[in-house]
Amino acid sequence: MPIANSLPAEQLTKVHQPDMLKPLIDPVISTLINKFPGTLDDLVKQHGSPLNLVWPHAFELNTQALLAVLKRYNVPYAIFYGAKANKSQSMLGAAANSGIGVDVSSIHELQAALRAGTPAAKICATGPAKTAVFHQALVSAGSLICVDSLEEFDHLQSTVEARRPLTKARVLLRYRPKSSPQSRFGMNAQDLLDSLQRLTRSTDVFHFEGFHFHLGGYGFESRAQALREVTGFVEAAREMGLSPQMIDIGGGLPIRYVEPQTYARFLQHDNQPSHYHNQKVPDAYYPYGAELTAPQWLTLLLEAEHSPGLSISNYLKLQNITLALEPGRSLVDQAAISLFRVTRTKQLADNKTVIFVEGSSFSACETWFASEYLVDPILISSHAPPHTPTQAYIAGHSCLDDDVISHRLINFSTAPQPGDLLIYVNTAGYQMDLLENEFHRHPLPRRLTATCCTEGNYAFSPDY
Ligand SMILES: Cc1ncc(COP(=O)(O)O)c(C=O)c1O
Repeated sequence: MPIANSLPAEQLTKVHQPDMLKPLIDPVISTLINKFPGTLDDLVKQHGSPLNLVWPHAFELNTQALLAVLKRYNVPYAIFYGAKANKSQSMLGAAANSGIGVDVSSIHELQAALRAGTPAAKICATGPAKTAVFHQALVSAGSLICVDSLEEFDHLQSTVEARRPLTKARVLLRYRPKSSPQSRFGMNAQDLLDSLQRLTRSTDVFHFEGFHFHLGGYGFESRAQALREVTGFVEAAREMGLSPQMIDIGGGLPIRYVEPQTYARFLQHDNQPSHYHNQKVPDAYYPYGAELTAPQWLTLLLEAEHSPGLSISNYLKLQNITLALEPGRSLVDQAAISLFRVTRTKQLADNKTVIFVEGSSFSACETWFASEYLVDPILISSHAPPHTPTQAYIAGHSCLDDDVISHRLINFSTAPQPGDLLIYVNTAGYQMDLLENEFHRHPLPRRLTATCCTEGNYAFSPDY
């Protein structure tokens, strides 16, 4: 149902909600879209298309929800926000405001996290590609370093030994869980035991703090199993006289983008080749209708069995082990929307319609899934369009055939017109500007930090 803007000067601006994969929307953002669509129009006129609005309040709410679970179970905990999920500085600011740490994978992310106000001691470095300068910066800052391999162990050791005065490196050892034997990340049991032996001989170089792993996929069960595996190494380390205090289980907590029933219905009835302009259903998608929210996922992990009669939460308390998490995507749930201005629509052969927008397939994509961001966009029309229902796919502004944002044919209750806006909601988790480039010399899209105090009272400032 279209909702008229309350401002008389903008009465022609109408919001058209999609009917298929309708996005779940944070209430503050929903109010902006549905009651003040003219504001979005003005922002795009001022800052260009595509335009990304990032919302720190959503990040803070997500963090509070996870913290509430950890506190309820009374386990020792640490959260490191996976900064890779989004390039926004205000997301890092929200992490600092929430008092959590940051997981960084480059010297640039490290510097950005420090600039945002995160204490160096609350920063944890992951990823297998730590350069010499990155290692040096981490050691001198006193941040935690997840050692990915024996080779990296050696490199870090020589980095520390070359420094004067000598500062110990704080380390976690990255384990490669049995469920991913082919992964290039982390160490197998033998290398992990080797690393522990080396640590016993290098107590002047390393401060050993525990273990780390990160798995693909979004199940809590695989993390529970990997955690159980790691606890064997906790015992082995203690027998060697070391004192592990932390198990860091990485990220992979889910986001629910659409209602699970909506998503199930879509998969069952509306995801055939004929629903795509290119007649091709992508091989893999993010699970947009996640059965579990991130707090439910964490609850189930804590309640999962560690050993007969002992839950994971009780194991952590009993052994005084800190559970560390590195959520990326799930902490930026609802924390951005991406706006695209329609350039024109065009009628193609076979009665197909394409909508061209100012933006590209890199401006809203599902970075890690070789498929598109599946959620339907919302249409904001600023004209009095004829009520002609239209089905169309959405293409970007480059001359490449593959520059398509939505291959899936989207149903519009009224045909989009040049100058209208399409809004993709909930794009902060890897989808918005991670892969942006300046193809055709289009400038990089602007990112604005959006805040709201009272209804309708929104403020927008550049996000650096
Ligand atoms: C080591 C590590 N930690 C955390 C994350 C964040 O994962 P997610 O965004 O799925 O929570 C990743 C993602 O690749 C990662 O590689």
